[in-house]
Amino acid sequence: MRFVIDGTTGLLGRNLLFEILKQNLKSLDEIEIIILGKGSNGKTLECRMKEIIIDDGFDYLNLNKNSDYYEQIKERIIYIDFDLTKPDLGISRKALEILKKEKIDYFFHIAALSSFLDTPEIINQLNLINIEGTKHLLSLVKEIKVENFIFVSSAYHAGSSQNVIYPDFVNNSNIFRNPYEITKLRAELFLKKYAKKVRINHKIFRITTISGRLVENELGSINKYDVFYGWGLYFLKLKMKLFKNSINIYSVPFEIKLRINVHPESTMNIIPADFGAKLLLKTCLNGNVDDAYHLVNETDIPTKIVINKILENLNITGHMFVEQEPEDKTPFEQFYYRTVGKIFTPYIIDPPLHYNNDNLKGVMNEYNLKCPEMNETNFQKLMDYAKKHNFGISI
Ligand SMILES: NC(=O)c1ccc[n+]([C@@H]2O[C@H](COP(=O)([O-])OP(=O)(O)OC[C@H]3O[C@@H](n4cnc5c(N)ncnc54)[C@H](OP(=O)(O)O)[C@@H]3O)[C@@H](O)[C@H]2O)c1
Repeated sequence: MRFVIDGTTGLLGRNLLFEILKQNLKSLDEIEIIILGKGSNGKTLECRMKEIIIDDGFDYLNLNKNSDYYEQIKERIIYIDFDLTKPDLGISRKALEILKKEKIDYFFHIAALSSFLDTPEIINQLNLINIEGTKHLLSLVKEIKVENFIFVSSAYHAGSSQNVIYPDFVNNSNIFRNPYEITKLRAELFLKKYAKKVRINHKIFRITTISGRLVENELGSINKYDVFYGWGLYFLKLKMKLFKNSINIYSVPFEIKLRINVHPESTMNIIPADFGAKLLLKTCLNGNVDDAYHLVNETDIPTKIVINKILENLNITGHMFVEQEPEDKTPFEQFYYRTVGKIFTPYIIDPPLHYNNDNLKGVMNEYNLKCPEMNETNFQKLMDYAKKHNFGISI
């Protein structure tokens, strides 16, 4: 079985790679994994991936970090340098030959820019990576033999105009929370049209918010702190600025006066990266016939619990919830609503939305795949890991 995956230095992509390895650990010679990615900060793609596989993947695979298993895994991996922003993807002629050599059973396009900012530079990058990058990749797919092309998209570009959202729903309202959502929808629409024209067998998986792992080791493991973690990171940085000399920033109590605009019934759908990867892989291998799916958690967590838990973990009190953005904002509130609140608020001011995943229930039942419930206990596991790693910053 031949796989191609991009985005493996990121959160979902690496978990998918680990899951493929886990399922084939005893018969590695039956798989070949081609990893498309780029070097960064002076490190080659291979060097980055070696670190990721040993530091994070060996936990997932329950392997001893001192074992020489990487050498065996490396035998089954081919690293190819590529950059989505380049029209020819920057792929060498030799790499193209490797891709063309034999048919590829599953080609996962996971890489993207997931910034919710709306500055001109970010919008430009979003267009370039998420839309043009997908187009560039599809031109490549047309040239090689790909049995199944799988695109990971976002559930959120469907907006909030209806309570129940089906995985093939197309938001024609022109109302989006940020430019990122628009680029993910446009990439999907291009894929559907192009795939029909040149006959590419494809599937689109719209995923909700991805968290650290809750099934495989190390519980909570995550490599970046954005989305709801990013909201916590904002307050952690604020505390660090105010309490520069504290030995343990989490033990210092801090009171803020902040009125947080949230819908009273708002919930968040958070899917652990490992569970998302397992369900994504099983659905593809199982040969499900639909071309659009929602990768979601079966249970939402109330947004107020998420906010309370994050602030409790940061030892911050004094916030309250309001149903409207305050007009008489304090200077701190003005700052909040101009910065992190601007990004976060559009996601928490709607009543609960239901992302229908009926077409995944069969595969979940067949393989006994049950998403870890996102409740206070499991959310705390995510916070424990985030705190252990100071939400990715050095203190
Ligand atoms: N995270 C979420 O909560 C969430 C929610 C909804 C949908 N999604 C979608 O799910 C997918 C996975 O998200 P994620 O959070 O796991 O991603 P991520 O951690 O942000 O990783 C992004 C990946 O894309 C790669 N990439 C970015 N620009 C590239 C370029 N120009 N050329 C080649 N590769 C490039 C990155 O490589 P480098 O490391 O080299 O930069 C990285 O491997 C994405 O398609 C995202 O839109 C995510």
